[in-house]
Amino acid sequence: MLLVVGGEKGGSGKSTISQNLAVFLARAGYDVLLLDADPQGTTRDWAAERQMNEGLAGLTFEHATGDLRKILADRVKRYQMVVVDAGGADSLALRSAMAVATHVLLPLRPKRRDLKTLPNLDLMIAQAKTVNPDLVVRAVITQCPTLPSQVKRILDAKEACRSFEIEPLDAITMQRNAYDDADEGGESVFEIAASDTKAIEEVEAIAKELWS
Ligand SMILES: Nc1ncnc2c1ncn2[C@@H]1O[C@H](COP(=O)(O)OP(=O)(O)OP(=O)(O)O)[C@@H](O)[C@H]1O
Ligand SMILES: [Mg+2]
Repeated sequence: MLLVVGGEKGGSGKSTISQNLAVFLARAGYDVLLLDADPQGTTRDWAAERQMNEGLAGLTFEHATGDLRKILADRVKRYQMVVVDAGGADSLALRSAMAVATHVLLPLRPKRRDLKTLPNLDLMIAQAKTVNPDLVVRAVITQCPTLPSQVKRILDAKEACRSFEIEPLDAITMQRNAYDDADEGGESVFEIAASDTKAIEEVEAIAKELWS
């Protein structure tokens, strides 16, 4: 399984979701590689902190940019699960990873500026599918407002995805401090001291839906 977490908008939660899914898989007993393809190196820095933090589930980490096809073709033979944090730009790394991935996950906040990236994401997906027709593409709505009066924003965001034939997961992430707190020390929502059951359930639900 090769999951690429990508998109075109900064801050939508790509690194957070890549890290938490990778930890979820490692804790479930899979041999996982987490590859950061973002020149910003957010996940690389997180992984460096994680390596210093003893007692956390083992996770192999790598940083690579540019054309990832050769690297990924090799890594899928060596790991049961590969998760790529592809960063927030229409880059060669994102496009090349989509050409060889089994799954693509596109985190989007329920905000106009995130949803405005859907037309170009749609084009990117169409191009990837010309060489990788079995690619499974899903969106996940992230950092959703917790107020009940704001539910329509979430439903509208899912509808916007569907209008581009990008199926949104039922699972979403709400705005929760646990995600930000987990960044400290290279942790995940599964490992932080002030544990947040709801954040844990959100990550589990994303994983379950993606790989079911
Ligand atoms: N569900 C959430 N609730 C609260 N904060 C969140 C949530 N998801 C992500 N964040 C926070 O939002 C910020 C941006 O998240 P993240 O770095 O994962 O986004 P990104 O898409 O990888 O950004 P970039 O495009 O810069 O790579 C971080 O501070 C992160 O902790
Ligand atoms: Mg990032």
